[in-house]
Amino acid sequence: MITLVLIGTVVLLAVFAFYKYMTANHGVFKKMGIEHPPTSWFFGNFNLAIKYGVFESQKIFYNKYKDKKVYGWYDSRRPVMVVRDLDMVKDIFVKNFSSFVDRYTLFDVDPPFRDNLLNLKGEHWKHVRNIVTPTFSSGRIKKMTSHIQKNAKVLLENIQHFYETGQEVELRDLSSCFTLDVIASTGFGLEINTLKDPENKFAAEARKVINPNPILFTIILFIPELTKIFSNLGFPILPQKSMVYFAQVVDQIIEERKRDGLHGKVNDFLDLLMNAETEAGHEEGRELTRSELHAQALVFIFAGFDTTATVLSFTLFFIAMNPEVLKKAQEEVDAKCGQELPTYDVAQTLTYLDMCINEANRLASPAIFINRRCVQDAYIQDIYFPKDMIVLIPLYAIHCDPEIYPEPDKFDPERFISENKATRHPYAHLPFGQGPRNCIGMRLALLELKIVIAAILQKFTPVPCSKTVYPIKLSKMQPRAQDGLWVKFEQRRK
Ligand code: HEM
Repeated sequence: MITLVLIGTVVLLAVFAFYKYMTANHGVFKKMGIEHPPTSWFFGNFNLAIKYGVFESQKIFYNKYKDKKVYGWYDSRRPVMVVRDLDMVKDIFVKNFSSFVDRYTLFDVDPPFRDNLLNLKGEHWKHVRNIVTPTFSSGRIKKMTSHIQKNAKVLLENIQHFYETGQEVELRDLSSCFTLDVIASTGFGLEINTLKDPENKFAAEARKVINPNPILFTIILFIPELTKIFSNLGFPILPQKSMVYFAQVVDQIIEERKRDGLHGKVNDFLDLLMNAETEAGHEEGRELTRSELHAQALVFIFAGFDTTATVLSFTLFFIAMNPEVLKKAQEEVDAKCGQELPTYDVAQTLTYLDMCINEANRLASPAIFINRRCVQDAYIQDIYFPKDMIVLIPLYAIHCDPEIYPEPDKFDPERFISENKATRHPYAHLPFGQGPRNCIGMRLALLELKIVIAAILQKFTPVPCSKTVYPIKLSKMQPRAQDGLWVKFEQRRK
């Protein structure tokens, strides 16, 4: 009997302690006088994201708090300040950057991914970003054009085969094979040929890297403190074996290049990062350690291939679904490129294609939101941001705001002609973020997108097919089309 009472008491105390732990921060916004949706003790407001999906729930509350500059949201037990005022967004990204230099990360990652740009904080981030930035300069990216063109040619061979065999094509799958091939060649000088061999080792491991264990990830979302425990028990959230595989690939390539005297002659990111690497560390202030080099090589895969594949597939699909847009895009490509694959310089002149990419990036941007962590107490427009507060910019809801973009669901590249752009707030379109911590790969991604879309439109016309579902229904939790992005290709010229 006594044992039972004791067990009962312990269980009750544990439940009470757990309840206290989950609700400890739920009063923060009330104290600050900031409105927020009603909370559930376990989910905070995350039950709403599960119920409506992350896209729809963001829109619902962005519209509900229409007259507010800022509103609150509880990501389970974590308070998050959602900033909907675009002048404040600008201050956070630029003017007050020193107070919002870090991104919020749910958990710390282990080497070899530990020191990557996405996760790094404060001075360490600044140091690595300064070193890596020249790697993405126009001059360096220009030299990578041949890698992109080579892979675009293989993609055209694939499409030719689909055309000849009358196959309907899911653009997302096709695009991710292409962007993987580009990241392998521009990043590491590797020809992995995912378009011909979709299950090659590099591709298989890269797909694991961007798809963390969903069950563990959901648990960590609610109780991030469990990350280390899971990791120690042999269940890391991110696939550690894949990370180590890529670090080994990097080491092997470095050794081969040193041995064969190829260092400095390959024009890929690894070659450029090797210039900045020394085993010795930071003595001269312009060097990357091997651990930092591993992490940057990995982050290019982590942040670079799936994002670009998303934009490529949605842009092509929207173009295929809108015959007027398709006609204009093909006229531009014919006029500027003729029968040749676009070069770096020609790609910069493809302004209509740029507008199409911008519009697809508005409607289905790979980033649903952008976050920052407040690293010191700050006031912006009289609103107080306490140290350690997570700040979220609701990218998707801003991009769909009918007061900024009338008829927001319509695909209309004309929104991005200069006169129309000039009528909007410059921070109303943020697919690559803004300020010193924006996307470092933006120029590479845009070059890759323009070259490959132009190459396709030169030779083929994508059109709706029997499996096409349009308008697109976005999946609940990620920037994917629920029913896929199906088209078929008609040939324009050989
Ligand atoms: C269309 C494709 C892409 C999109 C839409 C995209 C979007 C983004 C966004 C929204 C951010 C966060 C920006 C912020 O917090 O202000 C970001 C960061 C980043 N992206 Fe991209 N990205 C793309 C392609 C790439 C590529 C190709 C690479 C590299 C090869 C890359 C590497 C990175 C890195 C390293 C960061 C972190 C930068 C830092 O914290 O200093 N991205 N990207």
